[in-house]
Amino acid sequence: MNIDGQPYRTIWESPKEPGMIQIIDQRQLPFQFVVEDLQTVEDVAVAIADMHVRGAGCIGATAGYGMWLATREAAQASDPGASLVASAERLLETRPTAVNLRWAVTRQLEALKVLSPDKWVKESQNVARNIADEDADACTRIGQHGLKIIEKLAAKKPFVNVLTHCNAGWLAFVDYGSATAPIYAAHDAGIPVHVWVDETRPRNQGARLTAWELGQHGVPHTVIVDNAGGHLMQRGQVDMVITGTDRTTHTGDVANKIGTYLKALAAKDNEVPFYVALPSSTFDWEITDGFEIPIEERSPDEVTIMGGVAEGRADESDIRLTPEGSAAANPAFDVTPRHLITGLITERGICEANASAIAALFPEHAKKQD
Ligand code: MRU
Repeated sequence: MNIDGQPYRTIWESPKEPGMIQIIDQRQLPFQFVVEDLQTVEDVAVAIADMHVRGAGCIGATAGYGMWLATREAAQASDPGASLVASAERLLETRPTAVNLRWAVTRQLEALKVLSPDKWVKESQNVARNIADEDADACTRIGQHGLKIIEKLAAKKPFVNVLTHCNAGWLAFVDYGSATAPIYAAHDAGIPVHVWVDETRPRNQGARLTAWELGQHGVPHTVIVDNAGGHLMQRGQVDMVITGTDRTTHTGDVANKIGTYLKALAAKDNEVPFYVALPSSTFDWEITDGFEIPIEERSPDEVTIMGGVAEGRADESDIRLTPEGSAAANPAFDVTPRHLITGLITERGICEANASAIAALFPEHAKKQD
């Protein structure tokens, strides 16, 4: 996608420094656009854990490149195999909910285990590039499938109002995004589309990131507080909801940013279609019940302290929101059960959120369940 007219992905290999990865430091957006260099596995682990990069697809692609850096470090180690495994474990411990992390690290290990260590660096670079390219390609296809839903709505209305939660935009992937891909496709096709952007406390990924990237692409949008969605749905001001997901079971239960479940309940009550967009790398083919998905518990400081820019200032500063001494809890994700979901928008098409419909689209995984 474009930033000030220049095309970017969220992660790329440095054109100047071989073996260096570059990312957009998402913590600084929307106030500053900062490109960060990642040169070691530890750099990558910190970037994922501290959310310099975030969002399922982007985490997966970053972990994929992290494993490439791991092979470079393994080449210098006395025991390359032990070094590689230690790096994989370090990356895997960074964030528990987004399954793309495990998927990318496992894909790398599977590719490398059949090769001698002297071939690891080259192979791992290829795998990392493929993960990134496939992610961008899947999101493009999600956009084309989701566009059909928006086209149908647009046939009945002068413009289509879409509500989204958190950031499942291009910043959360390598390019295009999952939830935003149909929106960008509709906007680019000339369909008048407007987006209600949930601010998404506590880290405000909606207010900071989704609003920024929609604005960069010229998509009309309005930021709302997290509690406003139900009210807008009751008044007929939301035509559909599209969210992303950090992990979806092969039975259709969806883990996504905290607050998604409440939006799904409100959508059901108001007969607003509720879609979840995801590449197949976000399916968990092992877990059957969404409540088995590990939910990341993040620092209470994210609830009690908020960052932002004071009027007239360029630099960001923190303010405290709560009384000193008040406890805070910060579960980062929740699970929306399949019965609240109208459909899943994947790179292979749209299906119902249930095991047989998902298996029909991805039969190669269905076989593994036998
Ligand atoms: O904690 P984050 O920012 O990594 O959370 C992930 C998200 O942005 C959302 O849950 C998103 O809707 C799904 S990830 C594509």
